[in-house]
This record gives sequence, structure tokens and C-alpha cells, in this order.
Amino acid sequence: MPWETGTASPSNAIARALQWSACCLVIVLSLGILFVEFLGFLSSGNSYLKIFDGGNNQPHVPCYFIFGDSTADDGNNNNLSTLSKSNYSPYGVDFPDGPTGRFTNGRLMVDFIAQFLGFDEFIPPFENLTGQDILKGVNYASASSGIRDETGTQTGQIISMNQQLRNHLTTVSRIAQILKSKSAAKEYLGKCVYTILTGSNDYINNYFVPSYYNTSSEYTLEHYADVLVKEYSEQLKTLHSYGARKVAVFGLGLLYKLPEIVAVYGSNSSIFDTAVKLFNSRLLAVVYGLNAQLTGATFTYINNYEISETISTDGLNTTGTCCQVVEGEGLCISGSTPCSNRSQYAFFDGYHPTEVIYEANARRAYKRMLSSDALPYDISHLEKLDQYGVDDATFFHTKLFAS
Ligand SMILES: *[C@@H]1O[C@H](CO)[C@@H](O)[C@H](O)[C@H]1NC(C)=O
Ligand SMILES: *[C@@H]1O[C@H](CO)[C@@H](O)[C@H](O)[C@H]1NC(C)=O
Ligand SMILES: *[C@@H]1O[C@H](CO)[C@@H](O)[C@H](O)[C@H]1NC(C)=O
Ligand SMILES: *[C@@H]1O[C@H](CO)[C@@H](O)[C@H](O)[C@H]1NC(C)=O
Ligand SMILES: *[C@@H]1O[C@H](CO)[C@@H](O)[C@H](O)[C@H]1NC(C)=O
Ligand SMILES: *[C@@H]1O[C@H](CO)[C@@H](O)[C@H](O)[C@H]1NC(C)=O
Repeated sequence: MPWETGTASPSNAIARALQWSACCLVIVLSLGILFVEFLGFLSSGNSYLKIFDGGNNQPHVPCYFIFGDSTADDGNNNNLSTLSKSNYSPYGVDFPDGPTGRFTNGRLMVDFIAQFLGFDEFIPPFENLTGQDILKGVNYASASSGIRDETGTQTGQIISMNQQLRNHLTTVSRIAQILKSKSAAKEYLGKCVYTILTGSNDYINNYFVPSYYNTSSEYTLEHYADVLVKEYSEQLKTLHSYGARKVAVFGLGLLYKLPEIVAVYGSNSSIFDTAVKLFNSRLLAVVYGLNAQLTGATFTYINNYEISETISTDGLNTTGTCCQVVEGEGLCISGSTPCSNRSQYAFFDGYHPTEVIYEANARRAYKRMLSSDALPYDISHLEKLDQYGVDDATFFHTKLFAS
């Protein structure tokens, strides 16, 4: 077991990992790399579009709720006491008003998904919300957080998945107040789209930080994947009990290719890939299981791993980072000048992709290219499920799962 704690003469990788975790941050990403359709846009040389076209879009669903880690956080950590923040330059260099707390140069994958769902405004962070804004949805995601409560706490305060669900329960009761009825709220919430991107930090900011967390001495990677996915499954059931019916669950991506992981672990970074594959296969089984088990449930698995692997990265720098990062930490140096052409880089910092990658991933999650990009549905199908009706949804499941 290469990752045991407290054994004699730790390997170079472990020694570095210990230093690394002693201070620091690590945030995460579950994603990957680029996309063919998008090359047209890249080669136009025109990097940054207006965030939203604005105007008269009619959202296809009444609301969109976002859960997860730094790949989805749009500012929830800004006012927390944590090292896991990005509300400083050069983050947000391509955002109209600069830094927001997003860990990239521009928009996140969830921002593009919101746009594809027809929203013309960003889904606001829970930590900033007041009043009726919540009817269009809320973003609960928190950088460095994971499935387990303790994950990421070496960086300071974070909002774990369980806390994100408690925050959602607050939203649910506010919606019931606004709509003046619990059953109206339930019906409303059943029409919304939900996405969850979590799990990477349970490895990057937990299992592989043996100086702070005991999980690697308590569990083998196989056992840990079982434990994590079991807890995740309970969280998905909780979300369902709060009325969620159109839920896209994102698998983990190519963690072993993240520049900071490569910098710290070198060729040993493949251990992250082993971990990811064990996790993803169990998560897919859970998604299928919940659909069979829960009334009206329509969970879908977004195959982030495959999407990341099959996106074209021609012409992109896929190993370096666009911003200069703090050595051994992976986040951008505050106030540093980023690369001038953000669309030539796959990664903005040591853990997070650039906007071009987020857009490419979002396109395939929304409208799949390969049938296995999204199982059983992509998000463009998920959003329409109530038009087909639950019986049709059940029919699709049966058809897909039978084959
Ligand atoms: C990879 O692991 C081996 C065996 O534990 C170790 O000798 C080597 O130094 C590690 N390589 C890196 C780049 O950390
Ligand atoms: C930016 O990078 C893209 C992708 O490599 C390239 O096609 C484009 O010409 C570059 N634009 C500028 C202004 O350098
Ligand atoms: C949160 O609210 C503050 C104060 O109104 C504002 O300055 C900040 O930009 C908001 N943050 C986000 C992420 O919306
Ligand atoms: C959070 O916001 C309050 C009020 O603006 C401020 O006093 C406090 O310093 C902030 N805390 C952190 C950790 O940013
Ligand atoms: C981890 O293990 C050590 C030694 O067995 C123990 O002292 C410590 O309390 C444990 N930490 C946690 C968070 O369980
Ligand atoms: C990728 O970018 C990094 C950082 O800017 C740079 O050091 C490296 O040489 C680039 N790699 C390629 C293949 O261009």
C-alpha cells in the first residue's frame, strides 16, 4: 500500500504530498479536456463572448440547482475563512466584472449548462441570496468540499455535501412559503434540473493527504470507493426526498492529468486514475439502482471521464497552466498576469480547466455526442422528461437498462 501513513521512509511523492497538504489548498476538478465542435470557435480567435445573450430567452425548466466542489462554485467560499478561494485576480479575467469566486478565467461548466437550459442570468450562490431569486435556482457548490464531511477541512471552512443539502432544505421551505403550499413547491421542484459534481476532493483533499486524514490507513481504495459511493447514494436519496426528479450526477474526470497532481506525483499520478475508475463504476451502478428503486426518480450519469478523454485537444497546451501558480499549491498567484490567449490552454491553474474546456464539456453533457456520454439521458433529454411523463421515463430506463 503506497499511501499508508506513518511508515518508515516515505517515498519522495509522499514526502512532497505531506508538505503540500501541510499548508494547503487543493481544490479540484472533475473534468477534462476539449471538444471538437468547439474548434471552430477557437480558431475564430475571438475568445470571449458575452456571458449571456440576454433578452428574451425562455428557460426550458423553471429552475436549476447546482451542488458540488470548486468546479461548480460560483462564489460560495468568498466569505468563508478558508484558503480555498478564488475571488482575486487573475481569476475571472474574462468575466465582465472580474473575479467572482469561480476557479477559472471565465464561465464554469454549470454556467454553460444554465445557458443551454435557456437561463439568461447566472444561478446565484446560496451564500449571497435573498428574497425570491431562489425561484430560478441556487448554486450551493463549495471549493474543496466533498461527499464526506471532513473532506477539504485542512484548507479551512468549506460547505460539505451534507451541508449543501441542508442549505437546499432551507430553499425548499422558502419556496413553499413563496408558493404558499408544500405540494405546489414539490411539483415545482420536480420540474427543475439539478447537477452534482463532487467526489474528487474525497481523494485529492482527503485520501491522498495522509498527514491530515486517516482514510488511507482505514480503507483500501476499493473499500473507500464503496464507502464514498454509499454515502453519496444516501445524499442522492435525500435530494430526491426534497422533490428533485431531474438529477444529473457527474462522474469523476481525468484527475491524473491535472497539472498540480502531475507536478506532485509524477508518473505515480496514475493512482488517481485507479481511484477514479473504482469510484465511477460504483456511481454508475448507484444511479441505475436509484432509478429502479425510487418513485419517479430520474437520475442520469454524465460520463465526464469519457467526455474528457474523447474531446479533441488539438492545438491546445494540455500540460501547462495559463496562470502562474503558487508552487506546491496549484492556485494562481494573486495579481499575476495570466497567459494572453486563454483559448490555447486546457488548464487555467493547477486544478481547473479554462472556460473553453468547461464549454466543451457542458456541450456534451447537455447534448451527448457518443451515446455513452450520458446514461441513460443527456441533460437536453432530462429537462423534457415531464413532457414524456414518468411512464415514458420508465420505458426509457427499461429499454436502456435491458440492453
Ligand atoms: C513514485 O513512487 C515510487 C515508489 O513509491 C517512488 O520511488 C518514486 O520516487 C515516486 N515518483 C515520484 C515522481 O514521486
Ligand atoms: C488563440 O488560440 C487559438 C487556439 O490555439 C488560436 O486559434 C488563435 O489564433 C489564438 N488567438 C490569438 C489572438 O493568438
Ligand atoms: C455577493 O454580494 C456582494 C454584496 O452585495 C457582492 O459584492 C458580491 O459581488 C456578490 N457575490 C457574488 C458571487 O455574487
Ligand atoms: C465576511 O463578511 C463580513 C461582513 O462583510 C466581514 O466582516 C468578514 O471579514 C468576512 N469574512 C471573511 C472570512 O471573509
Ligand atoms: C487518525 O489516527 C491517529 C492515530 O491512529 C489518531 O490519533 C487520530 O485521532 C486520527 N484522526 C482522525 C481524524 O480520526
Ligand atoms: C505549455 O505551457 C507551459 C506553461 O506556460 C509551458 O511551460 C510549456 O512549454 C507549454 N507546453 C507546450 C507543449 O507548449
